[in-house]
Amino acid sequence: MKILLLGKNGQVGWELQRALAPLGEVVALDYDGAPGLSGDFSQPESLAATVRAVAPDLIVNAAAHTAVDKAESEPEFARALNALAPGVLAREAAACGALLVHYSTDYVFDGAGEDFRAEDAPTGPLSVYGVTKLEGEELISQSGCRHLIFRTSWVYAARGGNFAKTMLRLAAERDTLTIINDQFGAPTGADLLADVTAHAARATLADASLGGTYHLVAGGVTTWFDYARHVIEFARVRGVAIKVAPEAILPVPTSAFPTPAQRPANSRLATSKLQQAFGLRIPDWQAGVERMLTEILPN
Ligand SMILES: NC(=O)c1ccc[n+]([C@@H]2O[C@H](COP(=O)([O-])OP(=O)(O)OC[C@H]3O[C@@H](n4cnc5c(N)ncnc54)[C@H](OP(=O)(O)O)[C@@H]3O)[C@@H](O)[C@H]2O)c1
Repeated sequence: MKILLLGKNGQVGWELQRALAPLGEVVALDYDGAPGLSGDFSQPESLAATVRAVAPDLIVNAAAHTAVDKAESEPEFARALNALAPGVLAREAAACGALLVHYSTDYVFDGAGEDFRAEDAPTGPLSVYGVTKLEGEELISQSGCRHLIFRTSWVYAARGGNFAKTMLRLAAERDTLTIINDQFGAPTGADLLADVTAHAARATLADASLGGTYHLVAGGVTTWFDYARHVIEFARVRGVAIKVAPEAILPVPTSAFPTPAQRPANSRLATSKLQQAFGLRIPDWQAGVERMLTEILPN
């Protein structure tokens, strides 16, 4: 089997390089591509020519404009990367019969209420990022290509920067920390996303009826405040130098940290459709976060 992986150096793309390797020959690209190939999402026709040249059985798209606040001031660029380029990939996937795997986001929803949303819940993005990611979903669905769209949230990876690393740095430097406590979601590891992608893509290549949109997030729910406390206390117990006292980590509302892009308050996504369709069990968010911390903390 031949696999075309786009966005290979992002959080999810990096883990996909590992998880997809046992499935077949992986042609993995970032912006720069490879000789004769382009992975640049701002050049849709080069991207299309690349799909034709590789002639993959499976395309996995981990590239995106993920700078949520920056997207507010460059909506056309965000749309080009998050909607138009995935639309081109979908068109080419339909033409060559490939399965297209794509990632979307909890930001396609308005975040109202406290329920876990199912895949068919009404959308209502609050930000340019959310609008462009939703348009990307729609262009893929309308293209007629075989596809899997995984909506995820609060993605972290051991490699590169992440929220947990930022909290550990601040906890080592500061006497007090204030952290948002009115947004609810599940921190989801790029490794979990990549592993589930490999299982689900393999199953869908064997049974096309499994194609569609799925919510794919770790189990359970937390807030940024409780997530940060979990990370800091995990590190403290392991002897990491932490300056901030537990009682000096303070919850604040979202309004305390104004940002250009509005975030959904409720990012709870139901994963029962995914677990049933693919016979998978999704672990709770703490398992992945603690594993990541064990990897990055000094022994
Ligand atoms: N991160 C989250 O919390 C989150 C939450 C929900 C959904 N998602 C979705 O999950 C997927 C993977 O996200 P991630 O967390 O792995 O994001 P990421 O780490 O930001 O990776 C995205 C990759 O796309 C690349 N990219 C940017 N512009 C490009 C262009 N013009 N051409 C080709 N590649 C380009 C980036 O390169 P540079 O870094 O060099 O610019 C980066 O390697 C995305 O579809 C995202 O929308 C992410």
